[in-house]
Amino acid sequence: MSTNRARTDSAPEYRWPEKVPGLAYGGDYNPEQWPQQTRLEDIELMTEAGVNLVSVGIFSWAMLEPRQGEYDWGWLDETLDRLAEAGIYAALATATASPPPWLTHQHPEILPQTAEGVTLWPGARQAYSVSNPVFRDYAVGMTRAMAERYADHPALALWHVDNEIGCHNSHDFSDDAAAAFRRWLESRYGTVENLNAAWGTAFWSQRYSSFEEILPPRTAPMFVNPTQKLDFYRYSSDELLSYFRDMKAVLREVTPDVPVTTNFMCTTRSKNMDYFDWADDMDVIATDHYTIADDPQRHIELAFSADLTRGVARGKPWMLMEHSTSGVNWQPRNHTKPPEEMLRDSLGHVARGADAVMFFQWRQSKAGAEKYHSAMVPHGGRDTDVYRTTVRLGDALKQLEPVKGTEVTAEVAVLFDYEAWWGAELDSHPNNDYSYPEEVLRWYRGLWNLGVTTDVVHPSDDLSGYRSIIVPGLYLTDDATAERIAEAASRGASVLVTYFSGIVDEYDNVRLGGYPGAFRQLLGIRTEEFWPVQPNERITLDDGSTADFWSEKITVTDSGSGAAEVVRRFATLQRVDDPAAAAATTAPTGIFTLAGLPAVTRNTVGEGAGWYVGTRPDDDAVKSILTEVLTEAGVAPEHEDAPEGIEVVRRRSETESFLFVFNHTGNDAKLKVKGHELLSDSKIKGKLNVPAGGIAVVQET
Ligand code: GAL
Repeated sequence: MSTNRARTDSAPEYRWPEKVPGLAYGGDYNPEQWPQQTRLEDIELMTEAGVNLVSVGIFSWAMLEPRQGEYDWGWLDETLDRLAEAGIYAALATATASPPPWLTHQHPEILPQTAEGVTLWPGARQAYSVSNPVFRDYAVGMTRAMAERYADHPALALWHVDNEIGCHNSHDFSDDAAAAFRRWLESRYGTVENLNAAWGTAFWSQRYSSFEEILPPRTAPMFVNPTQKLDFYRYSSDELLSYFRDMKAVLREVTPDVPVTTNFMCTTRSKNMDYFDWADDMDVIATDHYTIADDPQRHIELAFSADLTRGVARGKPWMLMEHSTSGVNWQPRNHTKPPEEMLRDSLGHVARGADAVMFFQWRQSKAGAEKYHSAMVPHGGRDTDVYRTTVRLGDALKQLEPVKGTEVTAEVAVLFDYEAWWGAELDSHPNNDYSYPEEVLRWYRGLWNLGVTTDVVHPSDDLSGYRSIIVPGLYLTDDATAERIAEAASRGASVLVTYFSGIVDEYDNVRLGGYPGAFRQLLGIRTEEFWPVQPNERITLDDGSTADFWSEKITVTDSGSGAAEVVRRFATLQRVDDPAAAAATTAPTGIFTLAGLPAVTRNTVGEGAGWYVGTRPDDDAVKSILTEVLTEAGVAPEHEDAPEGIEVVRRRSETESFLFVFNHTGNDAKLKVKGHELLSDSKIKGKLNVPAGGIAVVQET
């Protein structure tokens, strides 16, 4: 039984909210927080800014159904009518993202619980358990009421189910969740014997004699069974998706022609929903993205998240459903975005496939927990840099209309898998500081720095078109995945696998006989033992580059085409907090057992190759290893003379090509490009000049 999530070969029908003209532009709109006069001004300002789509009703349940069964549609009717008159469309929410106080008052059993058994009380938002049947009934009822009320409203362009499903309540440990988890396990394993085998319950006297005895992985005296935890992650993602499906079924029944989506959080920070698995239930993929203030390379994390979203969307254009015009309110020290950064962030998503640019939110709240979160219209109103930039962005998006529907193509893929993420970060591992997204980002950053356009795809996606495939930390790997990756190499791809990949199967059971069990053949290596590196230790490799965090004892083997080559060797291990020891270029004991042994290897496989990196190289070393891999694979940067820090991406159709250039440096840059620059609406004469911090979008000729 292969139980990893594999994507079906055929993509479902893709349904863009066609009513919205051009690129979609707008944000969350919460008119219920404002008096009539402000609502009138909203329409005027939206029109001035070129807004054509707003998300309405997300947190409106208590305002729409103030008492059970009593509806107050007046304000929403009026809002939608006004929007329609102004030619602005609505991504209408199901209003279920925050249950009204009367509901939790009558039914406290709908509240979710943490692993410690703490109830998450109302007072914020998303205080519900999707496994509670009473809550499901009410949520589906509210969805039906919304759908029936607005089915024929001219403003309705798209359904927005709930909001960031699972953002705050993805792991619920309540009794309702326990019952749902048991049902899920029974359908996965059939018999409790199968479950015992998969979970390795011979260990620590955990053998179950019936499904009834099983609980979610609630807080226990010591490490909970890792496969139990892994399955709980899988179950939780499935359970939340089933909640979406219940609502979508109602919306389809009442409004078969209106596309349905919900906003994903395709970022390096949102771990709990397997969006590759959810994607086929969406008519169109929508995501939210926020940059992190203390990440100086946040534009690269943004690029990664956008490429991940495009991967989830199977390459089709997607919707950026939320981001921020300036600071948010939920980071320790929130970062105020200069206007140019806001424009780069927004258009950075467009460059990587977004055909919609939306914000949280339209007008900055004056009360409540998000009053210091930026918006398109800030507290200062119209006469502010933020609002002026909102208008500038609206103008820019009009200029960029020709890119709508075009797609990004890449010759390199980075594999990304939520199950591998869940597995890699379970308890009691050799290096418990391991972060899967950090490992993925490290390699993605290398590609970004080399100017190479990259797809971020699931291991079960079609890998046949890629010249190079990067496999960072794919800890958990089923047989089918290992075969697909090896096949891609045999057909000619240069595949690069990094440490702590292919270690366990889909049940988190170790593949025996030497690491990395799933990839030994592909890589022509065998690792006997992991040698995690202490935080105060640095490795030097034999080319002088440095690495840290991880090392391992690798032996090269012959997997049929001669022994694998050793590309870099371990040289020294130093304590970096002790200058004397560092000067001695040896480990504290004076001995580095791995010195002279392989650190990076390359194995010829059919027409291609399998590269392995058994440590965590610094950014320069990542770049130099990638350069060797990509040169062998024949992959070139998107633009041959773009200096470092200049981001270049193309969107193409069969007949047209649009080159997006972002200057993330403090110096003006000049690039050889021919065509028409869309933002300034001017023909390029000589070289294209992109000022420091600036953006250009060239329709190439
Ligand atoms: C999102 C959420 C929005 C808003 C935003 C603030 O997670 O969907 O409603 O809270 O964050 O950054």
